[in-house]
Amino acid sequence: MRGRDIELVVLADALEVAAAAAERLAAATTDRDNVVLTGGTTPREAYELAARRAPDWSRLEVWWGDERCVPPEDDRSNFGMAKGAVLDRLERAPRAVHRIQGELGKELAAARYDGELGEAQLDLVLLGVGPDGHVASLFPGAPTLQETARVLPAEAGLGPFVDRVTLSVPTLCGASEILFLLAGPEKADAARRAFVEAPGPETPASLVRASGGRTTAILDRAAAGSIAG
Ligand code: 6PG
Repeated sequence: MRGRDIELVVLADALEVAAAAAERLAAATTDRDNVVLTGGTTPREAYELAARRAPDWSRLEVWWGDERCVPPEDDRSNFGMAKGAVLDRLERAPRAVHRIQGELGKELAAARYDGELGEAQLDLVLLGVGPDGHVASLFPGAPTLQETARVLPAEAGLGPFVDRVTLSVPTLCGASEILFLLAGPEKADAARRAFVEAPGPETPASLVRASGGRTTAILDRAAAGSIAG
């Protein structure tokens, strides 16, 4: 199924979404260099499956699309989630792990991460979409949506209400491949706005497409509900 500049893949349930994402992630361990992970609950299962399917990540440099300004061991840390779900389960660790140091505060963490990112070409970017249509830590109507720096300090538009650091819209759009993962009926409205309707700042995910590459969304039937129907 095609949406606006995006391929839509609709699967039965969240487990199938995770399995498909894990398959793509596992393939990336042999054909990509820079992979960007996302936070949230949807990708956790995908990470666990990917670690089992492809336990050698030594070719990859791993990045994050956004981070909450908390220490890495905090339950709300996107890095912490990925560490537990995938990094700690690998036989061969990634060539580099580029954690956003949220505990430094949003300004300093953004500056550090920007320095690390340099001109790196992001190959595969995984993204979730919030029920409000946010992506990474780019929230509806936020001033960050207009900014062009690669990495931005940001404020939360939805819980957990802690400061954030996020890649910007142009940085995300510069990726070679973007893969959105959505599951559950609470995502159906956001999915329609993000993937089918005209783009706009009220739905940040609608602004994110790989301008020179491929964008795909893998959704379960519940999340795709209002697109299909
Ligand atoms: C964050 C995430 C965020 C997430 C969406 C979807 O730090 O909050 O990176 O952008 O991807 O909120 O999250 P779920 O997949 O858990 O619904």
